[in-house]
Amino acid sequence: MARLSQGWFSAFLPFLFFQVSLSLVFKEAPASDVVPTDLHTRAVEDLDFSILDLLSRDSFFWTGTQNGHPALANLTIDLPGDDENVVTVDRFKHLLMSVQCTDRTMTLGFKDDKAYGYIKRGWQWLNDLDPRKLVVVAGAGDCGWNPTRFPFSAATVDFDDVANTAKLHGGAIAWKDFQNYELTVGNYRPVSNPLGQRDIDKSLSLPFNLPLPFSSGKLQTPVDALDLTWFCADCGTEGSFDFGFHIETKLGIPTGASISLSPNGVKATLNPRIAIQADIGGDIDNEWEIGKIPIGGISIPGGILDVGPEITFSIGYSVGPLQGSAGITTGVTVSIPDDSELEISLISPDVSSVGWDPDLETKPVTVDARLVGEVLLYVKASIDLTAEALGQGFEAGINLKPYVGGGIMGQATSDEVCPGEGDHFGVKVYPKAGVALVADVAEADDPEDPLAEATIASVTASLPTYCAGFGGGGGSSSTGVPSSSIPVQTITPPPTPYPTPSSFLIRRAP
Ligand SMILES: *[C@@H]1O[C@H](CO)[C@@H](O)[C@H](O)[C@H]1NC(C)=O
Repeated sequence: MARLSQGWFSAFLPFLFFQVSLSLVFKEAPASDVVPTDLHTRAVEDLDFSILDLLSRDSFFWTGTQNGHPALANLTIDLPGDDENVVTVDRFKHLLMSVQCTDRTMTLGFKDDKAYGYIKRGWQWLNDLDPRKLVVVAGAGDCGWNPTRFPFSAATVDFDDVANTAKLHGGAIAWKDFQNYELTVGNYRPVSNPLGQRDIDKSLSLPFNLPLPFSSGKLQTPVDALDLTWFCADCGTEGSFDFGFHIETKLGIPTGASISLSPNGVKATLNPRIAIQADIGGDIDNEWEIGKIPIGGISIPGGILDVGPEITFSIGYSVGPLQGSAGITTGVTVSIPDDSELEISLISPDVSSVGWDPDLETKPVTVDARLVGEVLLYVKASIDLTAEALGQGFEAGINLKPYVGGGIMGQATSDEVCPGEGDHFGVKVYPKAGVALVADVAEADDPEDPLAEATIASVTASLPTYCAGFGGGGGSSSTGVPSSSIPVQTITPPPTPYPTPSSFLIRRAP
């Protein structure tokens, strides 16, 4: 069903590639800013040298602030082998006089004999047996030239008792070279507020509040006998999605990766007026992309995480047999409750959701002249996410697709077509409005063939039929009860064509 953007919209697309909000770049945060116990360690720093001990697991933190709320990223490295350990310079920086790093060496100079003596006893472990590995992580700027954390894998160490230095020999490594790690982004409770409030959890967000890039347009149709023009002054989306990301790798193989999304005041409004001129006997449907808007990325420098979200708006229609010339106005506003949660597993494709029970608010359908047949218009707002975490690539997208329209039957009678109106000619409208949400997971190179699919929500509004008279008297009326008039020209409406339901696409990058 999806078509590439085409027609006259294409000419305007370049103007739509603007950034609606600035990117969020996470900054390194020492563990002591995040984990309260480290504050105690620091208070007794000259007595307790355990901060210099070799560890088999350590966590590295980054924080980013959005709308005054901090979000946390936690990268936890495991070195489970007996022959490998990690130390983090952040933890004992206050004991150091100097740090010098090259691609092949890292030299740490200690201020004090006691601390130097302590590491000389402990770090000698590295030279005791071959091969052993000590990963030393220097913080941003610690080496004087490194803009981000600098992980260094040492194989041997030399000690200089006169200068109180330990010179490590080995090589710089990339974060993605770690075989065992876990990265969690989002859901941060700051130390200053350890009990946290629920809204602090919901801190890493993707904006979703955009108007439609165009408020009117002529829809491209494949036949001359179908002319559709839409106007939609207040169409668009509101709110934001809270975002979380998690990836876990064991022995170099990702064992779990997931994206979580939950809505924050998410709404989509579609209140179009559609001008129709049609004389077609079959079914026609089509869809166009009308704009692609980058909405501000999320990044953790140093090759940790890059998320590049964008919102794509598309517009589509689906008409059945349709004859006549008229203007239709209709409308629906879809709201998603804030307590809805969605989690997409990317490695073993799966979708789990809680909530996602959309509320629909509809406007009455009006038809201002004689028209018979089936017509349906929809707008699709999708967030597409490209995520790259420690060298692993993922793509994801969420679509919200409200639709409106209905079936229209022509009527003529010697009585009143619509009770109390006095007209003898008119139409009866069977309005249709709704939204559907489907989640699916697919390979990046094969997005049309999902690996997993789940219907998250599919809601159709129950709307009263509507009667409009056009001859022998004025006015129009709404009624929930079909009138007893005799249809002279009956186009039996086929089942109203639904647009392809909203979908959630996960495409794994090759
Ligand atoms: C960081 O992640 C690790 C591994 O999931 C976890 O054990 C640790 O508690 C986390 N630390 C914080 C401060 O969230």
